[in-house]
Amino acid sequence: MAASEIVFLLNDQLIRTTAPPGSAMLDFVRKKRHLTGSKLVCKEGECGACTVLVGNLSGDELVYQSMTSCIMPLVNAHGKHIVTIEGLNMDTLSPVQQAMVDSYGTQCGFCTPGFVVSLSGYLLSAKDITFEGAIGAIDGNICRCTGYKSIERAARSLVDRLIEEGDGNNIRQLVKAKYIPSYFSTVKDRLEGLLSTDHQEYSGRKLGGGTDLYVQRPYEMYESEVFPVYDASPMKQIELKNGICTFGAALTMGDLYRSKVFARALPNADYIFKLLSSTQIRNMATIGGNLVNASPIGDFTILLLALNSKIHLEGASGIRTLPLSSFYLGYKKLDLNEDEILLKISFPIPNRDTIFHFEKVSQRKYFDIASVNLASSIEMTDDRVRSAHIAIGGVGPIPLYLRKTATHLQGKTLDSHLVEEVFDILQSEISPISDARGSAEYKRLLARQLLLAQFLNINAGIYQIEKLIHV
Ligand SMILES: Cc1cc2nc3c(=O)[nH]c(=O)nc-3n(C[C@H](O)[C@H](O)[C@H](O)COP(=O)(O)OP(=O)(O)OC[C@H]3O[C@@H](n4cnc5c(N)ncnc54)[C@H](O)[C@@H]3O)c2cc1C
Ligand code: FES
Ligand code: FES
Repeated sequence: MAASEIVFLLNDQLIRTTAPPGSAMLDFVRKKRHLTGSKLVCKEGECGACTVLVGNLSGDELVYQSMTSCIMPLVNAHGKHIVTIEGLNMDTLSPVQQAMVDSYGTQCGFCTPGFVVSLSGYLLSAKDITFEGAIGAIDGNICRCTGYKSIERAARSLVDRLIEEGDGNNIRQLVKAKYIPSYFSTVKDRLEGLLSTDHQEYSGRKLGGGTDLYVQRPYEMYESEVFPVYDASPMKQIELKNGICTFGAALTMGDLYRSKVFARALPNADYIFKLLSSTQIRNMATIGGNLVNASPIGDFTILLLALNSKIHLEGASGIRTLPLSSFYLGYKKLDLNEDEILLKISFPIPNRDTIFHFEKVSQRKYFDIASVNLASSIEMTDDRVRSAHIAIGGVGPIPLYLRKTATHLQGKTLDSHLVEEVFDILQSEISPISDARGSAEYKRLLARQLLLAQFLNINAGIYQIEKLIHV
């Protein structure tokens, strides 16, 4: 293998390229391979018009996930199968394509390849095919002109047809029923062959899924030396041991969403993950990237702060561990040395007496960044608070661990009097500013209401409904 060669399957073709590892997959497929079916629209991962499937060997299984190729680093394709819309085309329309035609699911057609790829990816990856699952799979695809009802009808007819045929949806069956081209049957063996190719040594800017870096500084990334951690297997493990959940920083939101082990550590996982970005972005966004990008509204950051997490950093002088709450020193300023990498995260698994809750308010309920988000982990003995950890985002320059608010709760009876007291402390700890996500005043109100929602979650009768309305 030549120096800096990235090797992967693109549709049915083996690719060996020395294109810059930091370049974007969409540029590679459109400009270098002239596959123009994947569309370039927002270039920010927001619309799904550039969606591709990424097939990866996980143990003995070939797993496909959808990702937005406009912000996908080329280097993250190494050893994988990338499927563009052209790689799904056959002599006749596939049932997915046909369903879009029959249901009038396309007009200008810009979004259509993305919808077809996402829906085909759903068929390839779902354990049980359901209408709700199919709709979930297109949560990162936006259509500006057709209207979603006809696309929903296409999804419905597709699901009904597959269930009616009753043949199942593994690769062999999907090939046989002509949902996907026949070359898919050979991909697993071909990827196994690729795994024996040498792994490259890289150094440079640490790179997870690229969902932050490629939105903030795309052009700089194309030229940058990168140090990819997305596929670093030691950073992909999850362990529950002695009441502690430890997981690798290279795991994505999607990995954690699908993990049955992680679901045992995080209460309400299903509700929470649906609030986080879209299927495509969850498949790319690592937790390490979420913590290190230091956004004051990073959802996973807020959630992990409220779980009283520790982070484990590896540098030239070994591993050091610190509470996540002391990681953020100022706006985008971290207690992280240049040579250090965020290796893993650990948190005490909430026990039976602990109520953990995460809430987020954004302009759209799904697939939007938060105006304010808040998480709490409150351990109760009867009606007394034994311990509390609360974190809030969007109300200051850093993701904020509400130390004073949480401390004030400890050892006290949770009643409406205490709730009023902590509202005041909360307001003294936050410093929101007015911006595109809301005025400072509105964010103060949201902070109060989200904290109240946590208390109501513990004891619905704690507060009179009138108090919710009159602030
Ligand atoms: C369309 C869209 C929707 C989004 N929606 C949400 C949302 O709902 N909620 C939310 O919280 N975020 C959201 N995000 C933001 C983003 O997806 C997350 O912050 C994501 O977790 C970043 O992870 P990444 O692996 O892509 O990071 P990258 O872009 O790869 O990296 C981000 C930063 O972290 C550094 N880094 C990455 N991994 C490590 C490591 N292991 N050690 C040290 N440094 C590291 C990089 O050098 C870089 O500075 C969204 C982004 C997009 C584009
Ligand atoms: S072009 Fe919009 S998500 Fe890629
Ligand atoms: S058909 Fe035009 S954007 Fe969807």
